Amino acid sequence: MNTDPAPILVWDWAVRLVHWLMVVLVPLLWWTAEEGYMDWHRTLGLTMFGLVLFRLIWGLIGTWTARFAPMVRRIGFLKSYVRKLRNREYSASFGHSPLAVFGVFALLLALVTQIGTGLFSVDVDGLESGPLAVLVSFDTGRQLAEVHEFNFNLLAALIGLHITAIAVYHFLLKANLVGPMITGHRSRDDFAATTLPENRMRFFPMTGAAVLSLACVIALLNFG
Ligand code: HEM
Ligand code: HEM
Repeated sequence: MNTDPAPILVWDWAVRLVHWLMVVLVPLLWWTAEEGYMDWHRTLGLTMFGLVLFRLIWGLIGTWTARFAPMVRRIGFLKSYVRKLRNREYSASFGHSPLAVFGVFALLLALVTQIGTGLFSVDVDGLESGPLAVLVSFDTGRQLAEVHEFNFNLLAALIGLHITAIAVYHFLLKANLVGPMITGHRSRDDFAATTLPENRMRFFPMTGAAVLSLACVIALLNFG
């Protein structure tokens, strides 16, 4: 058995930074829209667009725990994972657990829908709009604004569920998931498997994903 006590990197810094920036941005986006600070709303919305786009690209070319393909494969272990949870048996997953994968995909899908509809939204008097609203008719822009409004409720519900699930793991299963999302690391002892997939952060994919996302944000800024 491997007795190396060195902590293992579970979440690279890009995943963590994107996550905690999203946590700050979602309430700010809600607040700016409610208070009518629409210039701020659009700027923060485009920042969110950049973050989510980066996360999606990172899901294809990033570290092992950030990538979507291994997450999808892990769904195959869902049954046995849930059976164990029912018996209050918790064993740490390297990356998102088979159950968490559903939450992650649902949150990302809701975020993509929110941002996608925001880009084309037009408000009721046509004065405030997303940067791509010029590409659609007023009626379509209004319909997308309705979806934007409705989807925000879905997103808020998913976030509520997400935080509840983390609290359940903390209090019922005594599993600390928040610590690794802050520091990136877990103890080697948490993992039963002796060999874990290589999870190293690589400079070129990271820079490429960041530059591509930034270029898309700049293109949208100049479009609107
Ligand atoms: C606006 C609110 C939030 C959003 C949109 C959000 C979204 C997400 C997403 C998309 C992931 C997947 C991470 C990735 O693979 O990139 C994630 C994971 C995670 N989030 Fe959040 N989150 C929010 C709030 C929070 C809060 C308040 C906490 C702390 C209580 C938290 C703790 C975590 C943890 C611990 C994970 C990793 C779960 C695991 O181990 O599988 N999140 N979140
Ligand atoms: C996760 C990201 C986002 C969140 C959480 C969010 C949230 C909201 C909320 C809560 C509203 C008020 C809905 C209502 O009650 O009518 C709103 C309106 C609006 N948002 Fe966003 N938004 C996001 C992204 C964006 C983006 C990327 C854009 C465009 C760049 C955008 C453009 C707009 C516009 C134009 C409205 C006004 C629509 C209307 O008055 O009917 N939003 N947003």
